[in-house]
Amino acid sequence: MIGRQLTGWLRSLLVIGLSVLLMFIVTPMASATTQQELDDITELWQTSAHALNDINCASCHQNNETKEFVAVPDHETCRSCHEQAVDTFLLSKHGIRLLEGDSPLTPAMARLPMQHEAMQKQMNCNACHNVHSANTTEASVDACLTCHNDNHSLNYQNSRHAELFAASQELPRPGPGAVSCSTCHLPRVVHGQGDNAVVKVNHNNTYNLKPQDRMVGDVCMSCHGIEYSYNSIFDPELVEANFDRPPNLEMETFELMKAAEARRTGNTSE
Ligand code: HEC
Ligand code: HEC
Ligand code: HEC
Ligand code: HEC
Ligand code: HEC
Ligand code: HEC
Repeated sequence: MIGRQLTGWLRSLLVIGLSVLLMFIVTPMASATTQQELDDITELWQTSAHALNDINCASCHQNNETKEFVAVPDHETCRSCHEQAVDTFLLSKHGIRLLEGDSPLTPAMARLPMQHEAMQKQMNCNACHNVHSANTTEASVDACLTCHNDNHSLNYQNSRHAELFAASQELPRPGPGAVSCSTCHLPRVVHGQGDNAVVKVNHNNTYNLKPQDRMVGDVCMSCHGIEYSYNSIFDPELVEANFDRPPNLEMETFELMKAAEARRTGNTSE
């Protein structure tokens, strides 16, 4: 065990050495990058899931075919290892402009209220992920709120869900009991079965908005009952308040179903 860890460390050191060397040899781009920035980036990367899996600077900053240095890698760079993330992102409201070859989405184009300082921020993988730390906890809430500025988004912090998220800062990802913006809007999906099962994030933020009850089955019902979930989702005030209180709607369908069940069992006491 210790031997393996040590080898891992040595390998990381070697990679960092090589990478920093690479940056200096091949970088006309370094003109705009200070040594301090390089050090900071290297430090972020060192403890990332990438470094732990031997993904180094060149994995992203060097073109696979031409071997040329890439100063600012785009989403296509991620595709070789994260095809599912890239494909689902490109089908979303966030990514569709890139799929169509247009300029990236920016908050300035939005109909929904957005943070004033973020108006020109371009939507790409790095809009949510700090690509060097690849931190998914930060990406789950804080990143969203750098752009989104509507009542529903801002009210999230008052919810029980936000408390659960704050209490579960598990690494490398928020734990399964936490409810972040992404739990609802970029839900986790199990691919494969048994030993081959892997959990991936559906990056299509449009997918479970319509029909409205898709989110009920895909998300809410892994923790809440069907009635509780429907009564919450179909109450626009509760959605705007970002679920800061229990639902008080009584949906007619459920009342009818209960009445039918009561008739069927002969139990009409209710
Ligand atoms: C997982 C892919 C990935 C890895 C690994 C990676 N980078 Fe990057 N790097 C990017 C992307 C994407 C950008 C563009 C980010 C942006 O536009 O905000 C970037 C930007 C940069 C920049 C420019 C920063 C700026 O603000 O202009 C520098 C310098 C840099 N990376 C250095 C490194 C070094 C050094 C390493 C290794 C220790 C490294 N990168 C590892 C993807 C990566
Ligand atoms: C050469 C392969 C490779 C490339 C290129 C690559 N990654 Fe990764 N990435 C990995 C591996 C391996 C892991 C760790 C295992 C996993 O989670 O799939 C990972 C994990 C991640 C994670 C999850 C981190 C966590 O803590 O669970 C994020 C987020 C991520 N990568 C983002 C990106 C982005 C954004 C890009 C493009 C700028 C990119 N990666 C490019 C291989 C790569
Ligand atoms: C760079 C800014 C930015 C970041 C970061 C960002 N968004 Fe968005 N998002 C937008 C813009 C712009 C729109 C389009 C809004 C419009 O057209 O009115 C949008 C749209 C949406 C929509 C509506 C989708 C639809 O089909 O109508 C949802 C849901 C959403 N974002 C959730 C999130 C979540 C969750 C996060 C964080 C995990 C996040 N966003 C991060 C800018 C951002
Ligand atoms: C418990 C689940 C849940 C959480 C947590 C959550 N949302 Fe939502 N969000 C919804 C539902 C449900 C809707 C309404 C869908 C509808 O009525 O069309 C919605 C709507 C939205 C919309 C508006 C889409 C549109 O076109 O009007 C945005 C943007 C959004 N959420 C962003 C966020 C952000 C950012 C966070 C975190 C700060 C967040 N949400 C947290 C469930 C959630
Ligand atoms: C709107 C914000 C947002 C954008 C844009 C975004 N991500 Fe993510 N991504 C997240 C969040 C949040 C998680 C973790 C969610 C969770 O685990 O509950 C995540 C998880 C991941 C993971 C680990 C889980 C998995 O599916 O393997 C990878 C890899 C990843 N993203 C890659 C990418 C790549 C590549 C892009 C660009 C094509 C991208 N992301 C764009 C927010 C975003
Ligand atoms: C990972 C589990 C999980 C998911 C997914 C989840 N919730 Fe929750 N939710 C909880 C927990 C735990 C509480 C706190 C319960 C308590 O305090 O008794 C809660 C509380 C609530 C509350 C009451 C808040 C209060 O202040 O009492 C509402 C309403 C709610 N959730 C609606 C939803 C809806 C709608 C969805 C799907 C869009 C959803 N939840 C998804 C776990 C989850």
